Amino acid sequence: MQLIDGKTIAAQIKREIAEEVQQIIARGGKRPHLAAILVGHDGGSETYVASKVKTCEEVGFKSSLIRYESDVTEEELLKKVLELNNDADVDGFIVQLPLPKHISEQKIIETIDYRKDVDGFHPINAGRMSIGLPCFVSATPAGILELLKRYNIETSGKHCVVLGRSNIVGKPMASLMMQKNYPGDCTVTVCHSRTKNIKEICLQADIIIAALGSPEFLTADMVREGVVVVDVGTTRVPSSETRSGFKLKGDVKFDEVASKCSYITPVPGGVGPMTIISLMRNTLLAGKKTIY
Ligand code: GUN
Repeated sequence: MQLIDGKTIAAQIKREIAEEVQQIIARGGKRPHLAAILVGHDGGSETYVASKVKTCEEVGFKSSLIRYESDVTEEELLKKVLELNNDADVDGFIVQLPLPKHISEQKIIETIDYRKDVDGFHPINAGRMSIGLPCFVSATPAGILELLKRYNIETSGKHCVVLGRSNIVGKPMASLMMQKNYPGDCTVTVCHSRTKNIKEICLQADIIIAALGSPEFLTADMVREGVVVVDVGTTRVPSSETRSGFKLKGDVKFDEVASKCSYITPVPGGVGPMTIISLMRNTLLAGKKTIY
């Protein structure tokens, strides 16, 4: 069994991006600028956004954090999105999800200029991605592809089972894994909360990408020897072992599944660090105006 070390790969890519930023600046180019809108004080969102801002600094990007209380109106938020669309200094921006219930996430996403949509959530980016055109690919699926690539994991002709059908991970992941490409060229099955025979399907998988948000869902009896397991789960559970009082739990029962795998990602230290790095990569692309 080989552990897929997302933390080390992410650190390596971070250095690659930082070097490219230095070259851009040395040539007299513009420093890439990522803005993030954070609404309310959800613990998970706070942590993710703080991490994104910190990583921007580390790679040499400019970053702006725009905060609102959770009673902000949809109108006010839309106004800010339009302002960022028109701000020539901002290359890309994200609106951290989830948003409070009185705000339509879809409306916000569709208002973002797709050329600055470094999350890849706008329908133009999602559509372009699904037909293999240049676009911003959402960060978690892009990070997973990068891990498969850097570990030279064979994907062509393999049966890839994606657990979960979210717009952020499951759907784009399934679409990317079936594309005529490397990594890709898989036969893909998508399972979700209504799938009747998940265990039987998982037992036929060469690659399992678990993105259900259900802690320790995938157990040893559900996988065959030699499987590649990618764990996207990051459920925060209370813990007395950590300073923050929380611990991240994946969708895979790691201790019993790992010994059957050829490759497996840990939680934390697997997919998580790659997600933030993919956002940085997209911001670099946005800075270079490569998507239009
Ligand atoms: N909430 C959970 N994941 C993400 C993400 O990748 N981007 C944004 N904007 N919000 C999220």
